[in-house]
Amino acid sequence: MRVLICEDGAAAAQRTADILCASVANRPDAVLGLATGGTMEPVYAVLRNRIAAGSLDLSGVTTFNLDEYVGLAVTHPQSYRATMQRLLFDAAGLPPARCHLPDGSAADPVAEARAYEAAIEAAGGIDLQLLGIGHNGHIGFNEPTSSLGSRTRVKTLTGETRRANARFFGPDEEAPQFAITMGIKTVLETRACVLLATGPRKAAVVAAAIEGPLAAACPASALQLHPQATFVLDPAAAAGLKLRDYYETVHPGGGEARL
Ligand code: PGA
Repeated sequence: MRVLICEDGAAAAQRTADILCASVANRPDAVLGLATGGTMEPVYAVLRNRIAAGSLDLSGVTTFNLDEYVGLAVTHPQSYRATMQRLLFDAAGLPPARCHLPDGSAADPVAEARAYEAAIEAAGGIDLQLLGIGHNGHIGFNEPTSSLGSRTRVKTLTGETRRANARFFGPDEEAPQFAITMGIKTVLETRACVLLATGPRKAAVVAAAIEGPLAAACPASALQLHPQATFVLDPAAAAGLKLRDYYETVHPGGGEARL
């Protein structure tokens, strides 16, 4: 695992955007795995700025988002489809047919989840997957005790996750209880992944994911099995790491390794 500790949250978002841009520079028709959540929003802001400045062209990529709420119409402003349209797809000029999210309004969500996993495979797999991390260690909506061998499926969200997501919904709306999410095995099969975490409230779970035991109780710890996993952190999110000095020696300022 690469652990990159950047100067602050803005630098961590830039670093994450840099890694994605390098992947697209290397392969303009890359298959990108995307994530939602408050932490990712500054990354998409950086990407939009680069597109507007003409230094980034995402028009050739195919995307697969990690997850989508079950039961929300795609037109609901808090559906992840609508969120991604707003945050990236419109700016990138990507045709809907190449921007994949599970359809949370599908009549048969179980079949939809299976079809989504098959679509990832048919696209040749994901070159680079972006990830956030929940306070309970979830990646995608793989809540604690999700099988480390899981694939895209319907998951019930924990009360903690629903409370965390309630901030995105109106006072008279309930945060959804179910989601379709890529599984942990699906994430482990991506060719590379980057988990971005910022702020002091992520410090404990980041330490558990990177330095704790491999455990379904902390789904992000499964990334210890991923051959190309990078954690991009700000100092606050890195505060609980015992080997912090080591990571900073290997990657000064969150940059590339000195060899
Ligand atoms: P957040 O969500 O970025 O809004 O904290 C991350 C996640 O739940 O994966």
